[in-house]
Amino acid sequence: MHITPFAVEQWMNAYETKCEYNLAETCVASLTLRELLDLAGEEDPLAPLQDRAMTYGDIVGSDRLRGLIAGLFARQSADNVLVAHGTIGANALVYQALVGAGDVVASVTPTYQQHVSLPEALGAQVRQVPLQAKDGYQLDMDALAQAAKGAKLITVVNPNNPTGALLSDRQMQDVVAIAAGNDAYLLADEVYRGTSQTDPIQNPSFVDMYPKAISTGSMSKAFALAGLRLGWIVGPKDVLAQAEHHRDYTTISLGILNDHMACLALDHADKILARSAGIVRENHAIVTDWIAGQNHLSWVAPHAGTTALLQYSGDRPSHDLAVDILAQTGVLVTPGSALGAEGTLRLGYANHPAVLRAGLPRLGDFLAKACPL
Ligand SMILES: Cc1ncc(COP(=O)(O)O)c(C=O)c1O
Repeated sequence: MHITPFAVEQWMNAYETKCEYNLAETCVASLTLRELLDLAGEEDPLAPLQDRAMTYGDIVGSDRLRGLIAGLFARQSADNVLVAHGTIGANALVYQALVGAGDVVASVTPTYQQHVSLPEALGAQVRQVPLQAKDGYQLDMDALAQAAKGAKLITVVNPNNPTGALLSDRQMQDVVAIAAGNDAYLLADEVYRGTSQTDPIQNPSFVDMYPKAISTGSMSKAFALAGLRLGWIVGPKDVLAQAEHHRDYTTISLGILNDHMACLALDHADKILARSAGIVRENHAIVTDWIAGQNHLSWVAPHAGTTALLQYSGDRPSHDLAVDILAQTGVLVTPGSALGAEGTLRLGYANHPAVLRAGLPRLGDFLAKACPL
């Protein structure tokens, strides 16, 4: 099967471990294992694991874990949850389960490239629905309705990576109406749920609004535990059953250790989400102050998520610019070219505030010289 290289993952693989100030990070500043264990507040949070045989464990995820994941939604139960290898694994299973040659998929872009390249590789016709800076990255419902005609699946990342756009309740209802009008599945990649700039920190989920909606997510972003590689699919049982057929060929299980650690974290979801709210909101304010003094940059302030696109002056290719920024300043950002958004740099603003405070002035000084007005 031919598949287009995953540009943003290639960029991160090449540079993520080679920078001083990681402003390309899309996870809320990751927790250490010690911080997670302290959060659990138990005498010995790993005790249940000590005498447990290291088998594959619960194949689809433990009942406890699936129950805790279901608890992140308004109307779901453990039966509606399948555990996967991160959101990336969850999305892949959904596409494998639902999409084949000749199907039409409508995908809101810019997006995580998986939502375009994977259905294309599976033989689908992918119709992109662009979010545009001039519209404040608001979804154009007429364009979505047009693209969704005859579609088997509509895909949306909400909150959106890379723009930080967040659909309002009203907009979500409109998306659902378009999906229902076409009897289409709706895949909502909700990995950034839990990072809203306003309360509640967790925006509503599509899966609670529409019987053919599927939500994917993970411990990686708002829960700051990407190292667990623990994600999920929440959706209708028949879709989960089809996803499981594919999963049996690629996953078996996520492992007893990851399952247990994810349970510890989700038992204290409120505390972790409160920490994340503190970080994304403090950092949003830091970037807002900084950008006000940058003549060479503009942005559409994000409403949720961990990323924003910075429009820079001049016409330098974003890839060359990002390589130079890293070489000259030690700051890593992501070129818009890796996200289908040339002319921009993606800022990941949810790392530790100290990293952001140190990195932004270096970035600003460099761009003032490198990007002529
Ligand atoms: C929209 C989106 N979906 C999925 C992923 C993959 O995340 P995970 O670590 O849960 O596999 C990412 C990672 O950046 C993402 O931005």
